[in-house]
Amino acid sequence: ASRERVRIVEVGPRDGLQNESAVIPPEVKAELVNRLTKAGMDIIESGSFVSPKWVPQMAGTADVLKLMKRHKGMHYPVLVPNMKGLELLLDLLSKQPKSEVPYTDEIAVFTAATDAFSKANTNCTVAESLERLSAVAKRATAEGLRVRGYVSVVIDCPYSGKVDPAKVKDVSQALLDMGCYEISLGDTVGTGNPTTVGTLLHTVIGGSSGIPASKLAGHFHDTYGMAVANIFTALEHGVRTFDSAVGGLGGCPYSPGATGNVATEDVLYALRGSQYEAPGDLEAIAEVGTWISKTLNRPNASRVGRALEAR
Ligand code: HMG
Ligand code: MG
Repeated sequence: ASRERVRIVEVGPRDGLQNESAVIPPEVKAELVNRLTKAGMDIIESGSFVSPKWVPQMAGTADVLKLMKRHKGMHYPVLVPNMKGLELLLDLLSKQPKSEVPYTDEIAVFTAATDAFSKANTNCTVAESLERLSAVAKRATAEGLRVRGYVSVVIDCPYSGKVDPAKVKDVSQALLDMGCYEISLGDTVGTGNPTTVGTLLHTVIGGSSGIPASKLAGHFHDTYGMAVANIFTALEHGVRTFDSAVGGLGGCPYSPGATGNVATEDVLYALRGSQYEAPGDLEAIAEVGTWISKTLNRPNASRVGRALEAR
């Protein structure tokens, strides 16, 4: 029987690095993208056009896009929080020689399920952010860019506690209505488990107004070590796209205490021998995880990566 395809959005160069306090040169970020490409990843979130006052680490994203090797057919989404970010990106794209592979063909807009998180992350309420993002999505689509949407704090909010799944559904629907092709559900804090994630997906996907699972992605931070289990719960609910970061890098500057995304290595290992087929070569990804962990001078946060290093 042929295996069912799972899409993986490698978010290491963005989510993975945005929280690092030491300055990482654009050359290193570009090399991370290049190494991930060689290891078989085909969707690589490569940076953010956000305010450098808010997230200094992402300030050099334009340079990263220029330096990294880009390939036809791959996708290199970048985060855009407002019209200013989109204009900076469009300006960059307009100056690019037409003969080159475009810097990117996709942006990701992001909001949250709670006002408290939205204010901490983007200085506006959820309703205000949806209004802002709707104009961004419209303009981006008109310019030929694909738009992905993120909803943060889908399980728990670091500022306002337990989150109502119905709210997640409403915000996701609003992002779809403005033209997002897919909604990535972010367990930003990483407190979700198969029961709470199952309840969430039951609400979001269920009922006559349910959002099809094919339009959803899972973005699970691994703070409590539940991310792989949560991915398998989401697979049971029909979700086939997951975000992960090589070496388990990452965290959100506005989610205190949360650790990195689920490690790409852990996801690939968990899917081995299953009915699902995912892009990327596990051993090669693990080598990238070892390299970037050493480069950042931090322990490899992927259990699978560490186990493979010890072999
Ligand atoms: P603000 O301070 O309200 O914005 O921030 P502002 O319009 O007043 O601008 C302030 C300054 O920033 C101005 O500069 C602007 O020009 C500049 P000044 O005049 O003072 O010199 N500015 C920009 N510069 C470059 N690019 C821009 C931009 N916009 C304004 N796009 C704002 C509002 C949304 C800009 C800010 O809050 C922001 O950038 N937030 C982004 C925070 C962020 O990147 N968080 C991490 C990503 S989300 C995440 O990690 C979660 C996710 O992984 C899913 C999950 O895990 O849940 C996706
Ligand atoms: Mg995240």
